[in-house]
Amino acid sequence: MCGIVGYTGSKQAAPILLEGLARLEYRGYDSAGIAINDGDKINVVKAMGRLAVLCEKSNGGAAAPGCIGIGHTRWATHGKPSDANSHPHVSENGRIAIVHNGIIENYASLKEMLVNRGRVFKSETDTEVAAQLIDYYYNGNILEAVSRAVRELEGSYALGVVCADEPNTIVGVKSHAPLIVAYSDDGNFFASDVMAVISHTKTVTYLEDDEIAVVRNDGIKFYTPFLDEIKKEKCIVDWDISAADKCGYEHYMYKEIMEQPDAVRRTIEPYISDGRVDLSAVLDRDYVKKLNRIFIAACGSSYHVGVIAKYNIEKLARVPVEVVLASEFRYCDPIVDQNTLVICISQSGETADTLEAQREAKRLGAATLAIVNVEGSSIAKSADKVIYTKAGPEIAVATTKAYSTQLAVTVLIALYTAECCEAIPDSEYDKILSELLSVPEKMLKILDDKANIQYLAYQHFNNEDLFFIGRNIDYALSLEGSLKLKEISYIHSEAYAAGELKHGTISLVVDDTLVIAVASYGRLVEKTLSNALEVKARGAHVMGITTESLKQKVGAVTDEIITIPDTHEVLLPSLAVLPLQLFAYYVALYRGCDIDKPRNLAKSVTVE
Ligand code: G6P
Repeated sequence: MCGIVGYTGSKQAAPILLEGLARLEYRGYDSAGIAINDGDKINVVKAMGRLAVLCEKSNGGAAAPGCIGIGHTRWATHGKPSDANSHPHVSENGRIAIVHNGIIENYASLKEMLVNRGRVFKSETDTEVAAQLIDYYYNGNILEAVSRAVRELEGSYALGVVCADEPNTIVGVKSHAPLIVAYSDDGNFFASDVMAVISHTKTVTYLEDDEIAVVRNDGIKFYTPFLDEIKKEKCIVDWDISAADKCGYEHYMYKEIMEQPDAVRRTIEPYISDGRVDLSAVLDRDYVKKLNRIFIAACGSSYHVGVIAKYNIEKLARVPVEVVLASEFRYCDPIVDQNTLVICISQSGETADTLEAQREAKRLGAATLAIVNVEGSSIAKSADKVIYTKAGPEIAVATTKAYSTQLAVTVLIALYTAECCEAIPDSEYDKILSELLSVPEKMLKILDDKANIQYLAYQHFNNEDLFFIGRNIDYALSLEGSLKLKEISYIHSEAYAAGELKHGTISLVVDDTLVIAVASYGRLVEKTLSNALEVKARGAHVMGITTESLKQKVGAVTDEIITIPDTHEVLLPSLAVLPLQLFAYYVALYRGCDIDKPRNLAKSVTVE
């Protein structure tokens, strides 16, 4: 949801900013721009469209001399994508330039105040208002002007500000949007996240809300909103540059699909020892025994993980679980007390809806546990306890490896909770844990056998409408299969609980409608196959996804089949998601879609 980056140092700034923006493009790619202070004035180059357009316009940055600057890649909120609405935005007199991630909610009243004082605006954005406001308060000191102006801003923002009169200084400030600063021998940075600077440095500091950073060549200083200087810790990030590169793969999404076995192994290992799952560092055993309910709040694919987790935790631990879309949680008057655990799941750790759900849970007195991939992210920092997924940086907008690692963590939680609540026989516990440990190996097998999935994708990539059906965990997984396909191939698809299709939606099934029946859950496979027969009777073409041992049974009904290795039922979605991801990937590939950056989307959604 917009990426911002800034650099000041001994090197030319523009190429460094463009490289940083390339690594932030997953946050939005409607337009991009840079503002460079050449020591005398601020020069802005910006362009609607992908970063490549800006690179061409600025000749890879060569056309913008100067060693200090700020850059932005946009996911449009206020004002459609256009050159005028692109960032950086500049005050009317050209003195102040800013980049912004977030939404300034009171921009209309601020704009009115500034217009009444004779200011003229060029764009429809909320950001230009902030640029003009900072300039309005500028009195020879950019730090003071920023601190004064942000006191009037409501909403969310991470801002990077440069001033023509102070050619050695960038000011960064944040409220409810992420911002880091970073240190290198050749200069210092600010950015939305570490990805933007990872090729230059791993030494960073995370800013808290309302803190202000002054970034200069020779160091970075931090201030409270009222300009008292504060000291902040430096941290070393453990991601390396290869994790953020394509490493020869055509798409990040494909690379990330292939990384899943390792990512799952890395994620679960720290919590398993001597044949037991030990989450006592994040979930006290006595507390777990007293749990009356678990809420899971999340968005998008992370929400889909929650839907599977509900089935698994309730099945194994017999604790009631409610899964709520994070954007609804705050408004559904949740019944929560100190014996309620609220689990928020988020890859980015910055999703505004999820962060707000977590805040609401805390306000209501619940304990909060976050399952997050990005260390130091807002959701991780504000949760009572955190379990980090170890997926490494995920760049493709459509999540794959983060989803799989989240799912694995929820199985750990299900097992641990079941054991604390004495709800699971030892033999069952041992069986599930041993199967969990073999998930990475079984994933590798599916990835090795992908030719069949690619072939089926080729057969069906021209479809414009399709359905996924399944029951229980197969239904929960279908939600993700359908979303994956929609996100990256733009095919309309819907996931239905197999038994529900006949209550209305089956009217859409006609000759050759493709229906993907996820039929891996042995207990309900016959029921799902009956539903598959119902759609076949109406002309549908049915593809089945099932296990090796159910292959014959399912294959007798479906027109074509994809198989996964047998495993414990709790872990079926961990394996069956791979064919669904690969199917979506290959379909999008054959349709010529921009797989890593699907239209209208952003990976990190920091607005509500
Ligand atoms: C966006 C992404 C989705 C993602 C969702 C939640 O909408 O496009 O792929 O599932 O946000 O993101 P989170 O970072 O909270 O898991």
